[in-house]
Amino acid sequence: MAILKIARIGHPVLRQDAQPVSDLALSELDRLIGDMSETMHAAPGVGLAAPQVLAGVRVVVFRVPADRAGSDGEAVPDTVLINPELTALDDRVVLGWEGCLSVPGLRGLVPRHTRIGYRGLAPDGSRVEGEATGFLARVLQHEVDHLDGILYIDRMHDLRLLVHEDEVDSFRFEDYIESDKNA
Ligand code: NI
Repeated sequence: MAILKIARIGHPVLRQDAQPVSDLALSELDRLIGDMSETMHAAPGVGLAAPQVLAGVRVVVFRVPADRAGSDGEAVPDTVLINPELTALDDRVVLGWEGCLSVPGLRGLVPRHTRIGYRGLAPDGSRVEGEATGFLARVLQHEVDHLDGILYIDRMHDLRLLVHEDEVDSFRFEDYIESDKNA
């Protein structure tokens, strides 16, 4: 396995539609998945989509470490989803912090559905289906967006909620919500 170079914002691959994976027997796919997992851990990150490592196929890897699961969520081990499809199961959208290995140094408060259904294929070709809430739902929406050339900043309605990662703790979210109300 190898740690791959991660494309950063501005690289055209991050704006392209990734292609569905049609042949799961490809040894190249096994290697890609192994490399993506290793790259995600080395970064470190909680998710990585194939286009971020210059592979234009619909593959994502993700995990939810115990310290990121939140009070209502569960830790999730390394998981691979091939040709993933998401469905919103709830109209409710909440803001939460996101960063991206392809947008280094920044964090944004991004609106995401709180509850989603997901389905796709595991690396062995078996079907995977489930529901996700909380941080996992957020990670999945972020990673699957990468397969459609979408970055988290595209989902933001207010770029004042985009900050340097070192300023997250000093950021005063309430100030902006108040100004929205008065607008
Ligand atoms: Ni990302």
